Amino acid sequence: MGELNRIGVAIDSDLLDQFDRLIARRGYTNRSEAFRDLIRDELVEKTWESPGSNVVGTVTLVYDHHVRMLNEKLTDMQHEHHRSILSTLHVHLDHDNCLEVLVVRGKAGDVQKIADALISTKGVKHGRLTITTSGADLT
Ligand code: NI
Repeated sequence: MGELNRIGVAIDSDLLDQFDRLIARRGYTNRSEAFRDLIRDELVEKTWESPGSNVVGTVTLVYDHHVRMLNEKLTDMQHEHHRSILSTLHVHLDHDNCLEVLVVRGKAGDVQKIADALISTKGVKHGRLTITTSGADLT
């Protein structure tokens, strides 16, 4: 961690009011931590724009396990990429629907491709890749 710097930011009072309300709803007790989180979020997003950078994320999938061969297809794809998929959580949401959360790690380009392939598989009702970081490059 570097030394702590204090900076002054000029900001319109209406915008600041909106920001204060937003961060209060999110549970921040001071602006500094909220600003730091916004900056970190942008830095993490930026990392994902470089296909060769090392990233961590989760892929969330919702699908109907009655769709023919879908379960097998999704499992096959996960085995193909077992080096990038660290762990999988499966929840039987109801009689028909399953929720899966996959923890993925690897090069941003590879992880994005795996997520796209899983999410675009026919029968997957909803899917989302959530990007995060190993935290190693953030303070
Ligand atoms: Ni299930």
